[in-house]
Amino acid sequence: MKRPVRIAITGAAGSISNSLLFRIAAGDMFGPDQPVILQLIERPEAMPALHGMAMELEDCAFPLLHTVRLHDNAEAGFKNVHYAILLGARPRGPGMERKDLLSANAEIFSRQGRALNDHANHDVKVVVVGNPANTNALIASRNAPDLSPSQFTAMSRLDHNRTKGMLANHTGCNPTDIRRVAVWGNHSATQYPDLRHAETFGMPVFPSLDLNWVENDFIPRVQKRGAEVIAARGQSSAASAANAVIDHMRDWALGTPPGDFTSMCIVSDGSYGVAKGIVFSFPVCCRYGRYQIVQNLAMDEASLKRLKTTEAELLEEKAAVDHLLPKETEEAHNNLSIRLRSGAVRYAEEDNDDDSPATVLRTDRVM
Ligand code: NAD
Ligand code: LMR
Repeated sequence: MKRPVRIAITGAAGSISNSLLFRIAAGDMFGPDQPVILQLIERPEAMPALHGMAMELEDCAFPLLHTVRLHDNAEAGFKNVHYAILLGARPRGPGMERKDLLSANAEIFSRQGRALNDHANHDVKVVVVGNPANTNALIASRNAPDLSPSQFTAMSRLDHNRTKGMLANHTGCNPTDIRRVAVWGNHSATQYPDLRHAETFGMPVFPSLDLNWVENDFIPRVQKRGAEVIAARGQSSAASAANAVIDHMRDWALGTPPGDFTSMCIVSDGSYGVAKGIVFSFPVCCRYGRYQIVQNLAMDEASLKRLKTTEAELLEEKAAVDHLLPKETEEAHNNLSIRLRSGAVRYAEEDNDDDSPATVLRTDRVM
């Protein structure tokens, strides 16, 4: 059995978390031999509900669940964490666009960026899910001067999985028979779900698709799926978002399958002509705990036009939060070179805080 890893989750009493915590504790994220310490963070008023979730975690008697700690502030909650999953934010309601949430959520992410910088493991991997996820991730990253911008990502994996799911449904094949779909840009209605490089059963699928279906049915459906779910459920996607978080972190830590790639929103290094310094979804391969943008995919004029549209939206969002982006981190974000590096082995440090009041479950077993 490995030594445990520490995972912080903000918004831990919310809907996505309710589907996520139990799967992480069951081993779905990092595998059946990886114990986990959960450091759960909520607003003070949601702490009673969080206590209830911790009780339920205990009641599952998960063999991999080493410790659960509950925190009402990010500074304590991020202490020594190897992974940070930032869910906590105000979700979009019916009729709202993601941009409407920008100012409501921006302050949260600048504070959390600083807290990660000051308290997390120096190799922490961060995924932002709370919307508008790309710009929130940029704010967090720009407020963490001692961490690499490549440690901050936002989640487009739900869009990637939606792309696969809809293509599987349309073609009648199993999602596991589909490879090389990509989502570009913002996690918003301007995103570009791209089937031009997709394969089913190892063969290109695009030539066999009706272009009218792709342009007028498939693309808008993926782009607006979040809103479609909100209209139907009265609240935003939760179980599918939790599933996408699992996929995002697992692939980042353990690698993408050979011959395939995934989509992650990362700080742009200028690949495919995308403006540097914004958090943009690219197709990436992951190895050794690092990601790399898939290069040299052929992009036709229609695709490049879609990239420009979603890039323009992200640049606009960035301009709207300019006051929250410290100048000292601008250079590092505008001159980024993303490389695969050998991943450091990350274990939970010795930590003498396990008797603190925040610890609600400690198993004390030898792993
Ligand atoms: P929710 O309202 O059920 O839960 C959010 C939780 O965050 C609440 O419990 C709230 O108390 C907590 N919270 C708010 N501010 C916090 C802070 N500063 N620190 C810690 N906790 C805080 O929402 P949800 O359905 O779980 O969704 C969470 C976020 O994820 C929303 O912004 C939603 O729009 C977004 N989302 C993103 C995707 C994606 O694909 N990127 C998909 C679905 C939902
Ligand atoms: C989604 O894509 O389901 C979420 O981002 C919810 C939303 O606000 O669209």
